[in-house]
Amino acid sequence: MTALGKDLIGLETLAPEQIRLLLDTAEPFKEVSERPIKKVPALRGKTIVNLFFEASTRTRISFEFAEKRLSADTVNVAATGSSVSKGETLVDTAKNLEAMRIDMVVIRHGASGAAQFLARRIASNVINAGDGKHEHPTQALLDLLTIRDKLGRIEGTKVCLVGDILHSRVARSNLWGLTKLGAQVAVCGPRTLLPRGIEELGVTVFRRIEDAIAWADVLNVLRLQLERMEAGFIPSLREYYRVFGVTAERLERAPKELLVMHPGPMNRGVEIDSRVADGAHSVILDQVTNGVAVRMAVLYLLAGGKPELADAAKRGAPD
Ligand code: CP
Repeated sequence: MTALGKDLIGLETLAPEQIRLLLDTAEPFKEVSERPIKKVPALRGKTIVNLFFEASTRTRISFEFAEKRLSADTVNVAATGSSVSKGETLVDTAKNLEAMRIDMVVIRHGASGAAQFLARRIASNVINAGDGKHEHPTQALLDLLTIRDKLGRIEGTKVCLVGDILHSRVARSNLWGLTKLGAQVAVCGPRTLLPRGIEELGVTVFRRIEDAIAWADVLNVLRLQLERMEAGFIPSLREYYRVFGVTAERLERAPKELLVMHPGPMNRGVEIDSRVADGAHSVILDQVTNGVAVRMAVLYLLAGGKPELADAAKRGAPD
């Protein structure tokens, strides 16, 4: 069994030491993406299937880059164009892929619990790339790595998740990861988009974005998940922006420098102003860059790579 177990389903079930191990293992892999030849042999001979049943740009492409930079053989499967569109089940699809002798499955699915469901039924390692409203563990890991890079620590850092917490798997994974690593966590958004009883998890709730900005070291601004909402959560997008939008004017009044993060894709002019997204506070593209190293670390550790040899693995030494 690997240091992470067989699968990566979420941060809820990881110990703080396992989360730290993932972040530490990602560190040496960052440099691989800066080389002219972005390839190391750590996963040579491994076959990985990326099963994406929901749209994705960052997660799908960065998993594929991570796999290729580790020299794995990769195949991408989407619902459209596969026999899923003819009614084949998730498990039948995965079992047919396993019959072709694969090693790992990366899955994004609209149903909460889909990754766990699959992990219990196939022998290959399963990595959750986002399941419904449940978890998006690699997004939270790259968020944690970005905070640690920029602020030098996670413990004690004040992080406020802003916006649609209720429908957000990114929020759930961040809440687990941040609290396990000792950050102070707050949320800010309309009452209708906050899970009931969230205060009981030790999370501070801000009703005004101005108060959240005054408190936070980091704002992680979440997308309004319009595709997961039934009608009636907010009066209108314009009203949401007026009350909760992270704008340049609001940041100018912040008492201290703060980082602005966003997992993407952004709704510019809804949850975030373009001047903020592209401005000096923004670390949004640093998050994307870190996504490749974090996913390399996840793949490497689940393939049985020794954490202490990640540095050697990137130099091409035997692992
Ligand atoms: N952050 C994120 O999951 O983006 P994608 O949907 O583009 O993968």
